[in-house]
Amino acid sequence: MTASVPSETRNAEPGTRNDYPGPYGLSEEQEIFKRTVHEFAEREIVPVAHELDEKVEYPRATVAKMGQLGLLGLLVPEEYGGAGASTLDYVLGMEEISWADASHSVVMSVNNSLVCEPILRFGAEEQKRRFLVPLAGGEYVGAYCLSEPTSGSDASNMSTQARRDGDGWVLNGTKSWITNGGEAGVYLVYALSNPNVPKSRGITAFLVPANTPGLRAGKKEKKLGIRASSTTQIFFEDCRVPADAVIGTVDEGFKIAMATLDGGRIGIGAQALGIAQRALDESVRYSKEREAFGHPIADFQGLQWRMADMATRVECARLLVYRAARMKDAGQSFSKEASMAKLFASETAMFCAHAAVQMFGGYGYVREYAVEKLFRDAKITEIYEGTSEVQRLVISRHVLR
Ligand code: CAA
Repeated sequence: MTASVPSETRNAEPGTRNDYPGPYGLSEEQEIFKRTVHEFAEREIVPVAHELDEKVEYPRATVAKMGQLGLLGLLVPEEYGGAGASTLDYVLGMEEISWADASHSVVMSVNNSLVCEPILRFGAEEQKRRFLVPLAGGEYVGAYCLSEPTSGSDASNMSTQARRDGDGWVLNGTKSWITNGGEAGVYLVYALSNPNVPKSRGITAFLVPANTPGLRAGKKEKKLGIRASSTTQIFFEDCRVPADAVIGTVDEGFKIAMATLDGGRIGIGAQALGIAQRALDESVRYSKEREAFGHPIADFQGLQWRMADMATRVECARLLVYRAARMKDAGQSFSKEASMAKLFASETAMFCAHAAVQMFGGYGYVREYAVEKLFRDAKITEIYEGTSEVQRLVISRHVLR
């Protein structure tokens, strides 16, 4: 007996089908959106990225243009001023902005994944109306305050306190490594609210506007990469917030933090993917232009094999990142897949940037060429929103469950 095979799945002659939706199954609208963001990034961001990195200058003008294009509120429904796009759309946008410059894309990632999304999922209607509209429109950006000087990977082991005071709360403590620190209009802050339970069960999340007395940004960190983005400490000194600053349920903030990071990790996976693709593109171009021993260096098998490895890893990273985004869009559990996507994509970004610098030789080691910056920018993707070690911990817990 032979099984009947639907005609569209039969093994077609290679090159005879042009109705197949491409290797990634993107819709025509998604292909157009990706191309449009790429063109925007190439036109508006690439020409300024190098100088902003050199000057360690926050990209205010270009971030405003990203806001006008809807890139800061992709996941936000239209009724709150956003684009109402899917996670996959967001990932496509992140990939292309990151191809141009990771400093710009980290602003986009934190705003979309770490601030807009938890407000959307856990916020009250009034909080959505008050914060999502300006966040999505680019009036201001948001920041996510979880890490502290002595708690990074062990995130629940924080010290920042939230003490009840009348009908409000008073925050005291220090948050570290805060992307958009000093630039943000609102800070999503996690603090210990209940000393009588294990820390992870006594953390509350608060939405704190930047102009709240007692909130202060520290000096900008001097970073290896993503130097145009702003990273600071945030100090809370008797910072009084009203009861309606609480987002979600009192003492259940750690779950908000973790669920939010699941989505954030897909965004950082997309960032790493964009960096990796750029490193590959720069390498391919350079290998055809640069000559050695009477040949373009692309003629040498050593470099051909290296580019084959880069291209293969980039494809694997893309498939993992898109898959995690699709699972999130479909309402499936995606924590393990998000960690796999971030882990593999960030290690691919480092692999590709490292290979690109090696291929460029001395030119890869100086500031004039893009690959030196890619090498510095790639490293952070293995560190923030959960180190590669934390991703392995999350994945192995799922595997062993
Ligand atoms: N979704 C919802 N809830 C979750 C969850 C998830 N993905 N993961 C854990 N939880 C819940 C657990 O169910 C548990 O709940 P109960 O108390 O009811 O049982 C609670 O959270 C505690 O969970 P764990 O015991 O698993 O927590 P842990 O202390 O072992 O920590 C960890 C787990 C994975 C290591 C976590 O601490 C972690 O992710 N650390 C890394 C933190 C991180 O990524 N920081 C990035 C900072 S933000 C940043 O970088 C932004 C930027 O600027 C770019």
